[in-house]
Amino acid sequence: MDIHADRLLILDFGSQYTQLIARRVREHGVYSEILPCDVDPQRITEFAPKGVILSGGPESTTVETGWKIPSEVYQLNVPILGICYGMQALAQELGGKVEPSDLREFGHADLTLEGQSDLFSGLSDTGRLSVWMSHGDRVTVLPPGFAVIGSSAHAPIAAMADLTRHIYGLQFHPEVTHSEGGSEMLAKFAHQICGCGRSWTPENIIDDAIASVRAQVGNGQVLLGLSGGVDSSVVAALLHKAIGDQLVCVFVDNGLLRLNEGAQVMETFAENLGVRVIRANAEARFLDALKGVADPEEKRKIIGRTFIEVFEEEASKLTGVDFLAQGTIYPDVIESAGAASGKAHVIKSHHNVGGLPEDMRMSLVEPLRELFKDEVRILGVTLGLPPSMVYRHPFPGPGLGVRILGEVSQTAADVLRRADHIFIEELRAADLYDKVSQAFAVFLPVKSVGVVGDQRRYASVIALRAVETIDFMTARWAHLPYEFIERVSSRIINEIEDVSRVVYDVSSKPPATIEWE
Ligand code: XMP
Repeated sequence: MDIHADRLLILDFGSQYTQLIARRVREHGVYSEILPCDVDPQRITEFAPKGVILSGGPESTTVETGWKIPSEVYQLNVPILGICYGMQALAQELGGKVEPSDLREFGHADLTLEGQSDLFSGLSDTGRLSVWMSHGDRVTVLPPGFAVIGSSAHAPIAAMADLTRHIYGLQFHPEVTHSEGGSEMLAKFAHQICGCGRSWTPENIIDDAIASVRAQVGNGQVLLGLSGGVDSSVVAALLHKAIGDQLVCVFVDNGLLRLNEGAQVMETFAENLGVRVIRANAEARFLDALKGVADPEEKRKIIGRTFIEVFEEEASKLTGVDFLAQGTIYPDVIESAGAASGKAHVIKSHHNVGGLPEDMRMSLVEPLRELFKDEVRILGVTLGLPPSMVYRHPFPGPGLGVRILGEVSQTAADVLRRADHIFIEELRAADLYDKVSQAFAVFLPVKSVGVVGDQRRYASVIALRAVETIDFMTARWAHLPYEFIERVSSRIINEIEDVSRVVYDVSSKPPATIEWE
């Protein structure tokens, strides 16, 4: 079975929700790919999708410079769904009119369904849906052949359709969860209107990935840097299933991992799954390299460089390795394509430990290249990895190295590990772990006086950080209950002698960052 055969193209006009459209479509079992609107048009023709979705975007069709829909999209002769800017571009190009509106709509709007359409059928008993809008311009004149299928107070043409040519336009965003019935509309478009099946499922994706890995590597040996993070863990589980002992993993313990993390990685992969894992115990080497260094960027560079040295040393002991596996995922692919075309969205690129040593001459195996993070997680669970590992908060490549402020020492790492463990353990016990996006403890380079019993204690200060965020570009500090913070604080001070004080970080991002360094 070709799980990519029934596919939709998402043409990106620069909306912050473009990836969300692709994910929603895939959640309905249909493969979708994103291409930028200024892509070489031949790629659109070659991709040969069963339907096209035009995303929203920050520009205006009412100015000369606004992006146009490439003519190849119309020539495909498949259904088209334009969202927000996509709808306006359709209206403008097919003979209607778009004008700036004084009455902008941002947030919830009441959509009244008009007439009959296959996109909305059966979605509302009342003839109304609460949808999410974000627009300044609006369509004021329908293009020939179109009918209004939905209206709102400030957009009399909030949804339009040409049911003969199967071209649709929605002023609102069906891809955001706040739009009632939005996900179902995308499902109807994919299945009923474009005629796509449901072959994009975790089981099929795994079978497909296994077949392509086997075809790519043959009898070759594959090396993987296993970090314990979600992506490399899923790659390990997948490759092990595909090629068994042809996979060798190198796990570098840099001494900056969370409590028991090294043991957990070995247990999950080596003991439970039977994966060949070489553990490089390099704690002393990392600490040595970090001695006397307080600057955060300098620490990051040293940790990255030392990782590559250790990884290469381990790799050079192996013979006959032809391939290097990497946990590259689809958003990385989209972002580097955007960066290459010079039309990138804002990118935050952290140099991830586990990255490819540049002078290692091996072919790459990247079995997650087509997948979004949530798909990677579902695959991980389907492959039998523990959900607690697959749904773990992100952990930075430099690890505790950037959570021990200033110079890193063994003692600080040990204290921080214990404090962090207490915080995370309590979050899980209080059912708060999955409600925050990232939580951790930070070791501050100051000492503070406390009294414990009758004793004066002059010891370290631990900061607790917990944030809520969707994309990690902006974040709100998590409003954890006071009683909860109190319990964590008192456990940390009582159980760890070297700590006299605990503080809670109430800074949002921006202006603060999530990590302290
Ligand atoms: P900041 O601190 O920039 O963090 O607000 C945003 C997200 O990125 C993670 N982070 C890193 N990840 N290497 C990484 O792999 C790094 O050097 C690094 N610095 C920050 C951070 O944990 C958060 O999830």
